[in-house]
Amino acid sequence: MEKSEIGRNFFIPMPVVLVGTQVNGKANFMAVGWCSRANPTPPMILCGIANAHHTPKGIATTETFSVNVPSAALVEKTDYCGLVSGNTVDKSGVFDVFYGTLQTAPMIRECPVNLECRLVQTIPLPTHMIFIGEIVGAYADEGVIRDGKPDYAAIDPLLLTMPDNRYHRLGEHAGDAWSAGRNLVQQAPGA
Ligand SMILES: Cc1cc2nc3c(=O)[nH]c(=O)nc-3n(C[C@H](O)[C@H](O)[C@H](O)COP(=O)(O)O)c2cc1C
Repeated sequence: MEKSEIGRNFFIPMPVVLVGTQVNGKANFMAVGWCSRANPTPPMILCGIANAHHTPKGIATTETFSVNVPSAALVEKTDYCGLVSGNTVDKSGVFDVFYGTLQTAPMIRECPVNLECRLVQTIPLPTHMIFIGEIVGAYADEGVIRDGKPDYAAIDPLLLTMPDNRYHRLGEHAGDAWSAGRNLVQQAPGA
């Protein structure tokens, strides 16, 4: 099949999270799409955040941050936290805030899942910083736990596509990971 040039800012759906920080003693939350697991043991997560935002100030001074997973029902407040900056607007009252073992990583009670992180590494890029944090606490609402595990359908996370800038919800189950390819493993040369 012929390939067409599509521009270099395309990517497949990304998670939408709210990164929480404390700046000058006040909680602040920003929407983040560039977020990923980074290391399994100890568990680490990374976020790509523009230098000009308010959030990097809080991460730099407290060396902590939180990653909160909003459900689709929180789309309006989530988008708001991506539209306005703590540089000019006080976002500390947007959500009900709680703290875990780290006393400087504000978390959002309304979000079904919350991770509190201790900064372990910062990687500077031309306009953004990659903040890598170790997850020191992970919390979920009892209502989204099924058989002892967080249930993704109940969490109902938001996904982001760019550059069309749209939010989506989870689609259909397409197969099981580390399992769907097993027949091919058995047929592999040298198996
Ligand atoms: C859905 C969504 C995802 C976003 N993802 C990111 C991101 O990954 N990195 C980033 O630097 N800005 C991202 N932004 C923009 C910031 O959330 C926005 O500029 C926000 O106002 C920054 O808040 P702060 O200045 O209080 O830290 C995103 C915005 C939206 C709406």
